[in-house]
Amino acid sequence: MGKMNKKQYEIKDPSLAAEGKKRIEWAYREMPVVRLIRDRFAKEKPLKGIRISACLHITTETANLALTLKDGGASIVLCASNPLSTQDDVAAALVEYSIPVNAIRGEDEKTYYKHINVALDNRPQLTVDDGADLVTTLHTKRAELITDVIGGTEETTTGVIRLRSLERAGRLKYPIIAINDAQTKYLFDNRYGTGQSTIDGITRATNILWASKKVVICGYGWCGHGIALRAKGLGSQVIVTEVEPVRALEAVMDGYQVMPIIEAARVGDIFITVTGDKNVIDKAHLQVMKDGAILANSGHFNVEINIPALESLARSKRRIRPLVDEYTLSDSRRLYLLAEGRLVNLAAAEGHPASVMDMSFANQALCLEYMVKNRGNLEPKVYPVPEEIDKQVARLKLNSLGINIDSLTPEQKEYLISWEQGT
Ligand SMILES: NC(=O)c1ccc[n+]([C@@H]2O[C@H](COP(=O)([O-])OP(=O)(O)OC[C@H]3O[C@@H](n4cnc5c(N)ncnc54)[C@H](O)[C@@H]3O)[C@@H](O)[C@H]2O)c1
Repeated sequence: MGKMNKKQYEIKDPSLAAEGKKRIEWAYREMPVVRLIRDRFAKEKPLKGIRISACLHITTETANLALTLKDGGASIVLCASNPLSTQDDVAAALVEYSIPVNAIRGEDEKTYYKHINVALDNRPQLTVDDGADLVTTLHTKRAELITDVIGGTEETTTGVIRLRSLERAGRLKYPIIAINDAQTKYLFDNRYGTGQSTIDGITRATNILWASKKVVICGYGWCGHGIALRAKGLGSQVIVTEVEPVRALEAVMDGYQVMPIIEAARVGDIFITVTGDKNVIDKAHLQVMKDGAILANSGHFNVEINIPALESLARSKRRIRPLVDEYTLSDSRRLYLLAEGRLVNLAAAEGHPASVMDMSFANQALCLEYMVKNRGNLEPKVYPVPEEIDKQVARLKLNSLGINIDSLTPEQKEYLISWEQGT
């Protein structure tokens, strides 16, 4: 990339770099699949000369992905995919590693979009997004840059939903691979990653005891599954709210109480939204909650809890602990909103553990390589992760854990594809 242009990056404090480097190294220990890919990329340079603009949570795991892409020959510029998830020490370390980063924890919305635009000034040939804010900005405000773009990847459920909507409207201009929909992503990252780190974030913010608490989980998708499992393991009584009958039934069979949010609102001690939907906890629900109820969100955007309604109901508001806002309502009930309703696992803890991001980001790196190899052959659509990449990531992860599995015998292969053999 040559010498870095100061205009290409904006971070909080360069002096945090040494601390950030140590934490990046710590995460790398738990990322064996990414390590293997990085070693190969360093030799083969599959991304030689490719310009990448990436909008991701600026965490230690993202740093290891960015270094992998850089070693693969890419010139990458990063910005944050959420104003509250940036780890400023990681941002500083990346700048020392000659990767421009535009992200400051706590940045306002204007700065957040300014940073996305600086990342786009890199004139991307590949985009990497988490929530589709970068791709949306590119398609609406910076459309002149699209001619250079080969393709992109999208990390999360909400981003994939937005991109499919763009595709349906006939407005998606280049191919994007939905990383979220790889089995080696959502089965582990969304379930075990969000599950553990959401509980971690709420615990760090509040230091509550989970045992005996009534925990209401809104949305029983992959993230909801994980959070429910971990809350149950800590001794909470878990209540699930859903709108999809199959998922609601699954929650019942998994041993949780299922009820409408208006009923759950009256009994819950802790509420966690993880739906990707809007106003899941609305004014009517806030009005009937118990004094002391805690509200947290782990879904992508801060719209799942109706915060303007909470503000309008409140007589007063104070920050009682870092990342905990106490709202006192006109009848003196107090409700506690964590991390301003933003992703609590990233805002109040460190996001997903490196071991699961290892698989998500292995998919990212391999899919970006795939995009370059298949340059010109893909249409402007949302594509699934190629099955061979998904399987390869699972195989490499198993290897790294020292676990071997069986393979089909020729006889079994034959049996499994035949229709003639019955009883
Ligand atoms: N915090 C993180 O680090 C992290 C990680 C992965 C995904 N996410 C985000 O979390 C959200 C959920 O992701 P997922 O993969 O679990 O999605 P998912 O689609 O598997 O599950 C969402 C569930 O919410 C349900 N739902 C929708 N509206 C609802 C409502 N009004 N009330 C109750 N339930 C409702 C849906 O029926 C669905 O079952 C997305 O926004 C995703 O981008 C966050």
